Formats: sequence, structure tokens, C-alpha cells
Amino acid sequence: MKINVLNIGSFYISGVSADVQTDERGEPANIRITSYGISRSEGITEGYVNAKEKFKHAVNEALRKMQADQDYRPENFYICLTGAYIKGKEQAVQRAWSSEMHYITPEDIEKIMESSRSISISPDYEVISVHPNQFRIDESSSTKRPLKLKGRKLEMKSYVVYGESSKIDNIKTALMELKILPSGVFYQPIAAGYAVLTQNDFDYGLSVLVDIGHSTTDVAIWKSGELVHASSIPIAGLHITKDIMIALNLKNFDTAERLKLTQGTARDDLVAEDDFINVTGLKSGKTVEIPRRVLARIIYARLYEIFYHVNNILSGYRASDSIPVSVVLVGGSTGIEGIEKLAHEVLNASVSIGEIQGFSNIPPDLEWPSFASTLGTVKLIIENHLITGKMENLPSKNSGESKFKKLFKKFKKTVSEEF
Ligand SMILES: Nc1ncnc2c1ncn2[C@@H]1O[C@H](COP(=O)(O)OP(=O)(O)OP(=O)(O)O)[C@@H](O)[C@H]1O
Ligand SMILES: [Mg+2]
Repeated sequence: MKINVLNIGSFYISGVSADVQTDERGEPANIRITSYGISRSEGITEGYVNAKEKFKHAVNEALRKMQADQDYRPENFYICLTGAYIKGKEQAVQRAWSSEMHYITPEDIEKIMESSRSISISPDYEVISVHPNQFRIDESSSTKRPLKLKGRKLEMKSYVVYGESSKIDNIKTALMELKILPSGVFYQPIAAGYAVLTQNDFDYGLSVLVDIGHSTTDVAIWKSGELVHASSIPIAGLHITKDIMIALNLKNFDTAERLKLTQGTARDDLVAEDDFINVTGLKSGKTVEIPRRVLARIIYARLYEIFYHVNNILSGYRASDSIPVSVVLVGGSTGIEGIEKLAHEVLNASVSIGEIQGFSNIPPDLEWPSFASTLGTVKLIIENHLITGKMENLPSKNSGESKFKKLFKKFKKTVSEEF
């Protein structure tokens, strides 16, 4: 099965094609990236399209690079978005059958997922995706995979993600003008979680995914195996760079960005007191020498603010102090030295930088925390297909004809041709 994903960030637009093979149980055995394309974003900030033609150009660039790897142009893409206009809430629905015991079919799952979409939200919003958390059949204990089980009543608890229709429409229209048909839409922090969190992370304690990108910091929280929260804070790397530009009186953004990337740290105690750096590109035209600790303090202030907001979100889910909290950081801004220690200080939790896992190959260009949500979308789609039974239509890795059968067929053909 081929899965095409287009991830729309405000720094990078990235597309991947993945080939998924299953084992004899229908479980994914091999996920291989067959092509990818990355372009620098344009015309989109905080998830809003603000210059449509520029945005289309950036998307086209990513697609063009994908095409260079392969001689076909996929038209169906799953889209992954972010923005503070996206929200989510928990939802519970059920379906019952009056007749005798009923085998739960893929259509039943599709229907119950569809009924989850009818939540009460403001008319300006629309549902983006439904993430099943737990199914229960006839009051029995819960399951993640109800397919083919027997029962009279199926209950589903899920997390439903929705966003402001006008913002989503602007993205979809631009994509459709590029002949891209969105097969489905997902939300980046949830997808990123699938790239870097292990099954244990999902299942135990409070697992928090924080994606610090360019214009948004996205947060998703799983509590004891259930997705309970996803939201975006409109502050990230862009704001750090702007702070540097303003505080140091720099003429342009790129100079500030370069300083951040080459000299920036998240804490001043990581820098020696006598470490000075030359700063050029000032509005005054002068070159000045400043302690590197000054730069660290500018970055610290903004990162502290980001983690302060994350902590506020988190505190609502920290039911008791005894629940273990683990925070995994992804996104380009995690490249700042010392960010883990600062996150630990503010969030009072174990903190690590996420490592993308579960793929048989990851092109080196995609092996960065920036692309966690792109690759995670592939795994999220596979998880959804496993629940809805769509994986079962795949040819299994081992279910094809055995070597022996193929040889036997060839032998029969040759024999019949000869006689
Ligand atoms: N080594 C680094 N140190 C500090 N910041 C970095 C580093 N590498 C990348 N960044 C910053 O990461 C940001 C880009 O992050 P990312 O690639 O995750 O963005 P994005 O996903 O496109 O954005 P968003 O999710 O906000 O729409 C930029 O602000 C960039 O300056
Ligand atoms: Mg991002």
C-alpha cells in the first residue's frame, strides 16, 4: 500500500510517499520511504495561508522534488496541518444491533467513526479527524481493535479534532488548484507523537509531545493510552529570532536567524562568562562585541514563556503528583543547545528529544525533529487502517505465492508449451 503525505509547516513543506507491507497477521512489517520532497514554506504563518500564490509555489516545489525521485505524480495526499485554530475534544458514541449477535465489520467501524464527527461545535468549525481511544463491546473490557469480534452493542470513546473552516478551506482550495486531492486531514502534534513515542509511552502515565516549530508550538497529551489533548500555542522559533533582531537592534531577520543557529543556547550557564561574539548587521552599521550570555538570555526568556504555556496545559491533566510525566520534544527549535534542561526546569518532568522510529529507511534529510509530524502521519494512517480493517486488503509480505508455487507454475507452463 502506498501512503502519500503532505505536511504543511510555516518553515518547511514536506511530502513523503511510503510503501507499507504487512506480515501474515496483517500487521505492518515494513514501512519504506520511496520518495520525498522538502521546500521552504512561503505564504503561510501559524497555519494560516496569507499569500495564496506564494503558498502554492512552495507546495509545488516540494512536489517537484518528490517527482524527481519517482516518475509519477501522486494526486491523493493525506494532509497534515497545524495552527491555533485547531482544537479537539473527547467524545463517546455507541451503536447497537437489535438482532442476535453481530460480527463487527469494517463498515460498522466506519459508521461509528462517522457518528463521532457529529459533535457540537460552532458553525464556523469543521471536524478534521477522529482518533479512536477505546472500544467496548457489550459492557465488557475495552479493546483497541473491535473488528470481527461479536456483540450487540459497540461503544467508542475518541478524541475528535476540529478547526476553523475558513482557514482549512484556504489550504484545501490552494491544494486543489494544484490538483492535489486531500484523502484526509490530520493535526501535526498527534501525528508527531506517532513518529517518536513508543507503545509504552502511549500506554503508561502522561506522555506529552511538544513540537516547537517556526510559528507554533504544538502539544499533544496521551494519558494511560488515550489521547486527551491537542492544541497549538502561536509562539515558536520565529519569535525567538524576532526577539534577537529587536533586542540587538539588527537590520534584518536573516542576521538574527544566523546568530540563533550558530551561537544560540537556551541557558546562559552553558556559556563561559568571557565568551564574547562579534555582531554585525546592526541598524547603526556598527559591529559590536557582546557576551554570548546576552544572546542566551534573550532565547531563554522566549523558551521559558513557551514552556510556561505548555505547563499550564499540562497542569490540567496532572491529576496527582504520583503520575509519571514524560515529555518528548520535536520540531526544528529543539536544535537549541540546552533546551531539554530548560524544559525539565519548567515542566518538572523527564524530558527527551524525540527520535523518529519504525521505518526501514529514513532519508538523511528527513532524519530531523522537524519532520516528526510528516513521518508520524504515515504511522497514524496505518494505525487508523488497522482499526478500520483497511490494512487487511493489502497483499501480505508473506502471503504472495511461495517460491515453490511460482516455480511449479513456470514448470507447468513450460511443460504444456512443449507438448
Ligand atoms: N539548530 C537550531 N537551533 C535553533 N533553532 C533552530 C535550529 N534548527 C532549526 N531551528 C528553528 O526551527 C524552526 C523551524 O522548525 P520546524 O522545521 O519544526 O518548523 P515548521 O514545522 O515548518 O513550523 P510550524 O510547525 O511552526 O508551522 C525555525 O524557526 C528555525 O530557526
Ligand atoms: Mg511543525
